[in-house]
Amino acid sequence: MATPVPKRVSVELIQRIACRAYHQQTRLQWSARTLPRARSIHGTTSQRTRDRTEQQFRTAGPKSSGSKHRASGTAPLGFMAAGGLLLSAFMVSFPTAKEDDGFSDCSTDTPTPASSDDRDPTLPRFRLSDVKKHDSSSPNPWVVFEDRVYDITDWIPAHPGGDVILRAAGGSIDPYWKIFTIHNQPHVREILSQYLIGFVDAADLVDGRPAAEDIEDPFEQDPLRDTRLVKHTAKPCNAESPNTDLDRQFHTPNDVFYVRNHMWVPVVKEEEADDHALTVELPDGEIKRYSLGELKARFKVHKVTAVLQCSGNRRSDMTRHAAKTNGLQWGVGAIGNAEWEGVRLADVLADAGLKVTSMASLTRADDAARDLPAGDSEELTNPNTHHVQFSGLEAYGSSIPLAKAIDPRGDVLLAFRMNGQPLPRDHGYPLRALVPGHVAARSVKWLTKIVVSDEESPSQWQRRDYKAFGPNEGANPDWDKAPAIQEMPITSAITSIWIGECVRKGRVPWISRDKDRGAASRLDKQQGSLNLADAGARVGFTATGPCPCPGELRSEPIALQGYAYSGGGREISRVDISLDGGKNWDQAELLQGQADEDGHWKGNSNWSWKRWRYTGQLPNLPLPKEAEISSNNGAHCTTVIVKATDVSYNTQPECHRSIYNVRGNLANAWHQVRVCPKCTRTGNGVVWSTGQAYGCGFKKESENTA
Ligand code: MTE
Repeated sequence: MATPVPKRVSVELIQRIACRAYHQQTRLQWSARTLPRARSIHGTTSQRTRDRTEQQFRTAGPKSSGSKHRASGTAPLGFMAAGGLLLSAFMVSFPTAKEDDGFSDCSTDTPTPASSDDRDPTLPRFRLSDVKKHDSSSPNPWVVFEDRVYDITDWIPAHPGGDVILRAAGGSIDPYWKIFTIHNQPHVREILSQYLIGFVDAADLVDGRPAAEDIEDPFEQDPLRDTRLVKHTAKPCNAESPNTDLDRQFHTPNDVFYVRNHMWVPVVKEEEADDHALTVELPDGEIKRYSLGELKARFKVHKVTAVLQCSGNRRSDMTRHAAKTNGLQWGVGAIGNAEWEGVRLADVLADAGLKVTSMASLTRADDAARDLPAGDSEELTNPNTHHVQFSGLEAYGSSIPLAKAIDPRGDVLLAFRMNGQPLPRDHGYPLRALVPGHVAARSVKWLTKIVVSDEESPSQWQRRDYKAFGPNEGANPDWDKAPAIQEMPITSAITSIWIGECVRKGRVPWISRDKDRGAASRLDKQQGSLNLADAGARVGFTATGPCPCPGELRSEPIALQGYAYSGGGREISRVDISLDGGKNWDQAELLQGQADEDGHWKGNSNWSWKRWRYTGQLPNLPLPKEAEISSNNGAHCTTVIVKATDVSYNTQPECHRSIYNVRGNLANAWHQVRVCPKCTRTGNGVVWSTGQAYGCGFKKESENTA
């Protein structure tokens, strides 16, 4: 530690600083002797902390040499403010100063650099460079919170988030606590206060806090992202797929697959990926370790095509139509469909020693005793009462029922490839859990630990965030009462709309103006496209002539496309469309997914979405009169709606009000988009609007303000 000596410092000033520092150290020695025993997180005394803290306090005393101070990683008070090596020389030349009467010899009338530091003088000051030495590799990790320094060695084993706190060791914990807002509570600060060992040296503070450039940005090493992603937050990254990329292809491309991160993206170097470790802990405490390389080499690799969908997908819809919800205001793009490649979790659990095959035949809790060969029942873990807990490298965790994990048709993977590529960093590189049919919150990324337990994951993402409640249960529901979300309910969304001229002019990717172009489609090579005449004939609209305006009633062609999905492997069997607010209904065309070369589906069930498309004719709408040209009072509008049904005849609720919950989870009501015609002043006809967007083709999620 080398504190620069200020260039113009008078001898008198240095003497004053040194004198003050000397007396402060004297008091420090005294306070170290009388230091109260530090309470641990459990309220008991931590002897180790006390011994170590006392040791640090002792080494900060005036009789210790400067080099000893540095070796101990602590800073003597003489270095406070504008001290430094020169100052320490003064300090040791003041041994005759009174040791027993405090500050009597020191004039305090003139401000000095040290006097601007009015924090508890009995505690030592540490330079940030000293704190840095106590990083996660140190046996005594320290953190800075605001302007204080804490030795967290003894907190680590008791810290509810495990040793994640080590991520902040050697630096400021503030940015992490901004992410883990659960720490913003008085009792957490009280716990931390037990580990206080001193203050950040004033020389390292700007406005009482470490300078911004001295605070490590946990997100510094996050990957670059595709600019097409629609960003909700940058740190952590939360971004949804643009509609155009949602509906264009069966497999959502990796670059534009939605990203939902609660924290930073852990760094695993490519050359170290195969050494990435996964530990598997069984209920009897047995622990087995696998490297990723070993998983790839020893187990059969499977491909599964499955949707991942955030429980908050379409939350903004619920907010708009029901009431304020807490959480990221996702549109319809917190969902994607990909081909995942990896090894089966069930195979790995069996290898680790779990009796997966015997367990798989059990369907109810009391079957354990009934169906088992004598002698086996005691050893057998009950899949109906146990859970598989997953933990990611950063701190995230959640769990699934063991029954899903070992279901031979459940297709739960430990995945390392996505759409034929190694997992992108944002999506879990190098290893993630993939739980098809369940909420994506259970598909833990950067997977490093699996525990089979009779308890669900203790994480807030299992016990709190991803649950839903009755519309009346308000802002403080009884979290323990509701089950964690697992299988997802049915949902659907409109991702693109074209009306009038857009359809006639062939701007719909799958409607061609060219009679001969029937097969090639920009939408999807697997799907046939329509030519305009066929499309017009099919739904009865004429292929020519813009709509005259104003003041006439006129039916206009409309084309829609979107997705539908149901959790639990339940295939979408029907998609219903209404163009008049739900009075009349018609069925959309369901697009086929992509089987593999042999025509086989990738996976044992329908884990994928169904994309759909629809062409129809809007009802006749009274067009705005001349006087109303610039306004859209709603009288001329109509609402287009999509709702889906799955093979179990589950269908979507009509409105968000009936399923409202304060977290805005599972917002799966009918997706409704209001479209309004508007005359152009040039007299060229009508333009259309949804929400704030005008034109005739809408790629953004659209508002229904009705
Ligand atoms: N796993 C870890 N380790 N960290 C996370 O923040 N987010 C979860 C899940 N797995 C998360 C995680 C949530 S809430 C969702 S919706 C999905 O990852 C998102 O997966 P994706 O970013 O690959 O689309």
